[in-house]
Amino acid sequence: MKLSTCLSGLLALASSATAASLTQVTNFGANTSGARMFIYVPDALAPSPPIIVAIHYCTGTAQAYYNGSPYARLADTHGFIVIYPESPYSGGCWDVSSPATLTHDGGANSHSIANMVLHTLSQYPSADASRVFVTGTSSGAMMTNVLAATYPNLFKAASAYAGVPAGCFYTGTVAGWNSTCANGAEIHTQDVWARTAQAMYPGYSGPRPKMRIVHGSADSIIYPQNFNETLKQWAGVFGYTYGQPAQTLGNTPKAGYTKVYDDDDDVGYEY
Ligand SMILES: *[C@@H]1O[C@H](CO)[C@@H](O)[C@H](O)[C@H]1NC(C)=O
Ligand SMILES: *[C@@H]1O[C@H](CO)[C@@H](O)[C@H](O)[C@H]1NC(C)=O
Ligand SMILES: *[C@@H]1O[C@H](CO)[C@@H](O)[C@H](O)[C@H]1NC(C)=O
Repeated sequence: MKLSTCLSGLLALASSATAASLTQVTNFGANTSGARMFIYVPDALAPSPPIIVAIHYCTGTAQAYYNGSPYARLADTHGFIVIYPESPYSGGCWDVSSPATLTHDGGANSHSIANMVLHTLSQYPSADASRVFVTGTSSGAMMTNVLAATYPNLFKAASAYAGVPAGCFYTGTVAGWNSTCANGAEIHTQDVWARTAQAMYPGYSGPRPKMRIVHGSADSIIYPQNFNETLKQWAGVFGYTYGQPAQTLGNTPKAGYTKVYDDDDDVGYEY
């Protein structure tokens, strides 16, 4: 064996022994809904690391979202922690439809994910509690809106890719599918949507996460009307007037996209 081969073998061994990987956490506090918690802690953690909760789509898993989204690679560069929750249900969708999940500390999926955040903050005392973010795709985007409504106290900002307004997927059952909402036929005023979100944490008057809503204009599963309805919801919560954005930027952030801001960077939308 050549010395160089031998050396590179040793190096591979050394780096695989220390490289960060996606890891399941089995004891993170109350978990009535049975959601699973996975975490990615990069080798080079920032001194005061932010936390990103990254939530998968229907049929997804923590591993699939870890592989298919950029957060873990970005964590290697920037030193933040990523929590990948995993749905306990057979279709891999999130419960964004039961009264319990649509309630602060209601004991369902949203509560389990909040406990994953609290557990991570307690395990990593240097983590920055004022920079906890949540994002997700499709069912994970629906959960992102639900978490922004049920746990506004935990999150600094939320980014939802192809979701629906918090409460729009209500069916009264656990992990139900609300086709009226999916098809974009739940159309309400901004006041109705705002009250729906506010009712998920009654009496809460603290700061709320900045919202970023992204939706494809040709989405045929979660219809793009849900983009408009989600804008109404958060415009209503923040006290803006839906349909009168402060700024509209064409071909931003790239050709074919439009970006709309309600004000400063509190609520931003792309489609
Ligand atoms: C949550 O439920 C899942 C699935 O039953 C289990 O794997 C996990 O250990 C539970 N965690 C806690 C903290 O109860
Ligand atoms: C679908 O959701 C809406 C709220 O967006 C609710 O009023 C309606 O009853 C739900 N439909 C079903 C079949 O549960
Ligand atoms: C939904 O929002 C988009 C982007 O702001 C807008 O172009 C479209 O007209 C809206 N649709 C409705 C039905 O209001």
